[in-house]
Amino acid sequence: MRRGRFVVFEGIDACGKSTQARRVAAQRGARFVFEPGDSPLGAQLRSWLLDASTPMNPVTESFMMLADRSHHVVTVIEPSLASGTHVMADRYYASTLAYQGYGRGVDLADLEAATELAIGHCLPDLTVLIDIDVDTANERRARDAEDRFESADVHFHERVREGYLTMADGDPHHWFVVDGRATPDEVATAIDARLDLLEW
Ligand code: TYD
Repeated sequence: MRRGRFVVFEGIDACGKSTQARRVAAQRGARFVFEPGDSPLGAQLRSWLLDASTPMNPVTESFMMLADRSHHVVTVIEPSLASGTHVMADRYYASTLAYQGYGRGVDLADLEAATELAIGHCLPDLTVLIDIDVDTANERRARDAEDRFESADVHFHERVREGYLTMADGDPHHWFVVDGRATPDEVATAIDARLDLLEW
């Protein structure tokens, strides 16, 4: 049985990654997954994580993201890949490095070590970064019903964006950066051309 392809979609809130991940999954017969919260245990963790009324220190937040991820890998992602199913993920470990590491200042080396513990060898074949500037993201976002992450200040989102770009720069073989200010169709065309280079 040939292992499925594993592609992750990343970017700051409102970059359009969920739309693209769902589209690719539908077009390539892949399984769509997301983090945080894509399991019964994960859904509970997600409700605490996004609750604006629950203050949480960045390390606690990291462990909750990692708990969700570890459970997700073992119960959903790894079994799917092992059975030959392709997996398209809306966020994965790079979100924790970007948001909790670059964004909230948790030590990156510590986070990388904890990530290894959480995901083992389950690394993506490719991470697609849909990059948009923070002003464009803010314009797109509805101003009401913000969660704890969406209500964070503009500098936080700038750091998250820079973190993503730094990770992508450092490993161009496993990252693909696409300009998220283009139309959804243009973004789709760019992503599909890169995905076609993976063996499916
Ligand atoms: P998500 O459901 O992807 O929201 P959105 O569609 O708005 O991007 O993720 C919810 C929030 O959780 C989002 O603001 C990013 C944050 N997050 C982290 O801070 N660290 C993580 O490891 C993950 C997976 C998400």
